Amino acid sequence: MNTHSDAPSENDSHDIMEEWDEFVKKRYPTPANQDPTDFNPTDPEKKESEFRDYEKEVRPSVRRFYEENHIHQTYDFVMGKKKEFTAFNRREMGIWEAAEYLNTLVDDSDPDTDLSQLQHLLQTSEEIRNAGRPRWMILSGFIHDLGKVLCLYGEPQWAVVGDTFPVGCAFSDKIVFPEFFDKNPDFRNPALNTRLGVYEEGCGLDKVHLSWGHDEYVYQIAKPYLPMEGLYMLRYHSFYPWHREGEYDHLCNETDRKMLKWVQDFNKYDLYTKSHEVPDPVALKPYYEDLIAEFFPDKLKW
Ligand SMILES: [Fe+2]
Ligand SMILES: [Fe+2]
Repeated sequence: MNTHSDAPSENDSHDIMEEWDEFVKKRYPTPANQDPTDFNPTDPEKKESEFRDYEKEVRPSVRRFYEENHIHQTYDFVMGKKKEFTAFNRREMGIWEAAEYLNTLVDDSDPDTDLSQLQHLLQTSEEIRNAGRPRWMILSGFIHDLGKVLCLYGEPQWAVVGDTFPVGCAFSDKIVFPEFFDKNPDFRNPALNTRLGVYEEGCGLDKVHLSWGHDEYVYQIAKPYLPMEGLYMLRYHSFYPWHREGEYDHLCNETDRKMLKWVQDFNKYDLYTKSHEVPDPVALKPYYEDLIAEFFPDKLKW
């Protein structure tokens, strides 16, 4: 991933963002509410156990990415990043402007087969729109990955994307590549490595700090403007250990449990967009400018 600007970027020749998306899709080949044994377009013989055998097939760059993510996402790291980025003193941009800014991230991968950031946002939101879903949900689809502008600020990719998980309590062994937590300093900290750690039973996810990345950042920006269901979609769309693996229920309250189905519902538009049409930003812009204006002010602090 390179940038058009001079912003520092992690000079990995591989495009981890794209590879991470592909890897998640391989790990979860069917939507949350669909029996994986029912559906496999490429190999009807494949069983769920084989789907989970992701470690064998993973690319070395993706493995390295998860290793860095799991080593460096500590409780203190997350608290520091939250403080740093909720000062919102980086830029002032409207939502469409932020999407165009995000689109200055350029893939090193194949331009014929891969979508740009803006195209992925529009594919997700257009799929939601075509399904006749509410306007706030279409908008949530359009903005869900805007937090990836963190990359343009020079943040390393392991602190922008990747499956998220709680810090400040024991790491679930259902998190992808759990063995990499061995080198995370919190793993051996007795105050942080128990089932509850710094949290209380049923305290609610709002009180739980997840590993830092694009989900939390865009949630913090959109918080005053979208309904709760949309905010859950933004904040937890990469929290696969919760919405796909069913972990961390002991930290959830009743609101979280009610909202879970919305997060799962959203995940199918993010991961399994069926359209092969490449959306045309110029043609779609007027519709999205109206939709954005319905919920957001002209400019936001980022
Ligand atoms: Fe995302
Ligand atoms: Fe996405």
